[in-house]
Amino acid sequence: MVHTILKKLYPVLGCVLLLMPTFVFALQDGAARTPPMGFNTWNYFGCDGCSQANMLAVAKAMLKKHTGWDGQSKSLMDVGYKFINLDDCWENGIGAHPNNDTLKWDASRFPKGLPWLTDTLHKLGFQAGIYTCAGSSTCANRPSSQGYEAKDAMTFVKWGFNYLKDDWCSVSNGATAPQAYSKMGHGIVDAQKQLGIKSTFVFSLCSWGQTGNDSPWLFGDTCGHLWRTTGDIKAAWSGSDGSCKCVQGIFLSNYNHYQYAGPGKWNDPDMLEVGNGLTDQQGQSHFNLWCISAAPLLMGNNTPALNDVDPTFTTLANTEVIAVDQDSLGKQGHRVLGNGSSVDAYVKVMKTPDTTTVRKVAVCVVNWGSGAVGGQTITWANIGENSATKVYSVRDLNTHKNLTTSAAGSYTTAGIPAYGNQTLLFTNYPVGVLENPVTNKAINTGKLLTRVNGNVFELFVPRANSNVRIFNLSGKEISSCFAPTANWYRINSRASTGTYIVRINSDNSVLEGKAPMLAQ
Ligand code: GLA
Repeated sequence: MVHTILKKLYPVLGCVLLLMPTFVFALQDGAARTPPMGFNTWNYFGCDGCSQANMLAVAKAMLKKHTGWDGQSKSLMDVGYKFINLDDCWENGIGAHPNNDTLKWDASRFPKGLPWLTDTLHKLGFQAGIYTCAGSSTCANRPSSQGYEAKDAMTFVKWGFNYLKDDWCSVSNGATAPQAYSKMGHGIVDAQKQLGIKSTFVFSLCSWGQTGNDSPWLFGDTCGHLWRTTGDIKAAWSGSDGSCKCVQGIFLSNYNHYQYAGPGKWNDPDMLEVGNGLTDQQGQSHFNLWCISAAPLLMGNNTPALNDVDPTFTTLANTEVIAVDQDSLGKQGHRVLGNGSSVDAYVKVMKTPDTTTVRKVAVCVVNWGSGAVGGQTITWANIGENSATKVYSVRDLNTHKNLTTSAAGSYTTAGIPAYGNQTLLFTNYPVGVLENPVTNKAINTGKLLTRVNGNVFELFVPRANSNVRIFNLSGKEISSCFAPTANWYRINSRASTGTYIVRINSDNSVLEGKAPMLAQ
């Protein structure tokens, strides 16, 4: 019976498949579910500095612990940077691909070889990335992959890489971007299959934001995970210079495609220039704008030179801003104020356990100009909140301070210096929900906070195997305001209304959540 029905359907299915554009199926293979984070050699080390010695120095620097804003000692790897990626000039020789042979590395730059390098990086806990080009030679005129996609994909996988950036110089014979990138993307998948390798592999398309049928945002997710939307970035705030664009221009071009971004498929406004000559203020705004855009975060600075007090480190390791970039909902921020010329505000809706009653929204307000501007008003319509009376807490992600727990209807930011930004997190939690910000899951089941009478609240947290500590939003422990009863905690009248942070340590794990107690 089923067979007969299927038989009738075959011709119809055949027509549907024929009418479909060539590349219709998104990869969605589990790689790059959040924007990739790591380091790439190009922006600082360039062609000449692409070497084993520099890669190892970068790895060492990324493992070095520094004291972060929260007083905790963390390395760049600890805050999420896990890829170390070679860019152009690792290849041996100049010109075309060796005839019918595999690509070779430049042994003077990589004396121990690339398999040794990937192995060393893996042992240190990193993942390793490599570069090639869809044309016959790379942008620095080294041998590259046109006509050898499957062979080179196999070579890269065998060498132990699990990230590939595929550039767009010297592409000949009328190859279109969907054709060229599909060959390489599928070459990687096939190579991994043949070798029985199960780990994820990130494929990064680098065709500089071509348009028409070659627009990477229209086909990139069928074969890869991220795609450059623009020409090469330059370490300058505004203006443009030949094919090089600056932070403002690159950001605005990339912004045009915001609706195409999502888990496993990212617009790439090019690698970071933080620490390469921008002022500290510009560097912070550049970084925060990339994070509100859910952009890949590939550091491109002299990482080995970073020290504890370096503002570049502070910016790159701002875990609260990184969390905006890495949010699992994967939205790219959209503009709600301005037109890309003087002051703009971008809004990124974040993952919450329940987006209808619990909302978390990141906002980045940027001052593109060279003069300070006054505070900017963000309305509830701007953050997508329907109810004008809903109360939000607002946290400053640059200074790590809570600005208010009771904003309603709108919030006006502080003034913004030249080239500066205000990056804020707006959170609305209804009474009764305690969220673990790591898993974005409600910790409690059912009611958590109830008002008994007056200012007395009960906090329903299982006491059996939990050690509950309660902090106010300034981080001060206020556990003594809560009296344990048989099954739950009771807040006595000394506790004022407001939002509380509750930490629950159970089975050596730490859960943390916020719970508001609103005046009624
Ligand atoms: C192109 C790319 C850059 C870099 C260089 C290397 O310009 O867009 O990101 O990879 O090639 O030659």
